[in-house]
Amino acid sequence: MLINDLSAHINAYDEAIKTAVGRVINSGWLVLGPEVKQFEQSFADYIGVAHCISLANGTDAIELALRALDVEKGDKVATIANAGMYTTTAMLAIGAVPFFLDVDLSSHNVTLLEVERALAAGVKAVVATHLYGLAVPEIEAIAELCARRGVPLLEDCAQAHGASVNGRRVGSFGDAASFSFYPTKNLGALGDGGAVVTGRKAVAEKVARLRQYGWTAKYQVEVSGARNSRLDEMQAAILSVFLPDLDSTNDRRRAIAAQYSAEITHRSVQLPAQGGPEYVAHLYVVRSARRDALRAHLREMDIAAEIHYPIPDYRQPVFGTRFETVCLENTECLSREVLTLPCYPEMTDAQVGQVIAAVNEWQP
Ligand SMILES: Cc1ncc(COP(=O)(O)O)c(C=O)c1O
Repeated sequence: MLINDLSAHINAYDEAIKTAVGRVINSGWLVLGPEVKQFEQSFADYIGVAHCISLANGTDAIELALRALDVEKGDKVATIANAGMYTTTAMLAIGAVPFFLDVDLSSHNVTLLEVERALAAGVKAVVATHLYGLAVPEIEAIAELCARRGVPLLEDCAQAHGASVNGRRVGSFGDAASFSFYPTKNLGALGDGGAVVTGRKAVAEKVARLRQYGWTAKYQVEVSGARNSRLDEMQAAILSVFLPDLDSTNDRRRAIAAQYSAEITHRSVQLPAQGGPEYVAHLYVVRSARRDALRAHLREMDIAAEIHYPIPDYRQPVFGTRFETVCLENTECLSREVLTLPCYPEMTDAQVGQVIAAVNEWQP
């Protein structure tokens, strides 16, 4: 069993995808046309914000959002270190300096206390990542604190399309939010894609310039730090096919996660903190002190399990000794213990049962 089965997903939408792609081909308008405009409007409405600017991928979305929030070379920016290095990569592109935050052991997410530590250290911006599809439990308090201090908050929602807190979708709490539409995401294209959403008009306008060479008018470059980063018309048309089903595919993911949480009963396997609407089950991540042995056991049972993520950002080889004094206790512990089980909407009930049985049968 795979960790994800994109061909099952694509097959389920075969006709609708072909119709959407055919429409784009016949129109002859391939970049920044009506499909992009329509998707941006629908996605902004879905999240509950005024603006959506689609981009080539989620890493660009983080980088361009930070640039639009006036983060510059040398500025300190807060981020967690257990989210696969994407935010840190975006910061490195700007020349910003990561200020690493520890996470809560049970939610795997950033805490208000850690954000307070970052603000005391003088960060220019805070990135809050809704990891594994779980909304940061304290996101409302974090947004309020950042607003009070005048420090911009960027929500990274690449793993949490559709999660909500008290009736508000993630992506609507901060000054801006980044999304990825990488194919395996809860809302994924058939290639790369991303977006920034924001309620702030000036931020939206700046991102729109940054995604297209820094143009304020055709061939007139006024903004530095720009590039070419555009979602193309075909991907936008395909995303418009998937978006209306996002809530129902999220429900299916949640149901699988709930079944895992009810039926996995192994003493050496810790199950994740569950949410209701706060959790869209992008990844179902368990913990075990004998994680590698559990993974090997599952592989023997022909079940793929992955590690998200094995190396804290500050330990990445690219940094050499730069962050050798940084050691975040919970982040370190999780990097040794986390294991992701298959959890995607097209899984059959039989496959879900197979994963549960395989974990419960494990003899550490
Ligand atoms: C939390 C998080 N942020 C950012 C990204 C970057 O998105 P992309 O791969 O589209 O650049 C990803 C995913 O890949 C992600 O999981």
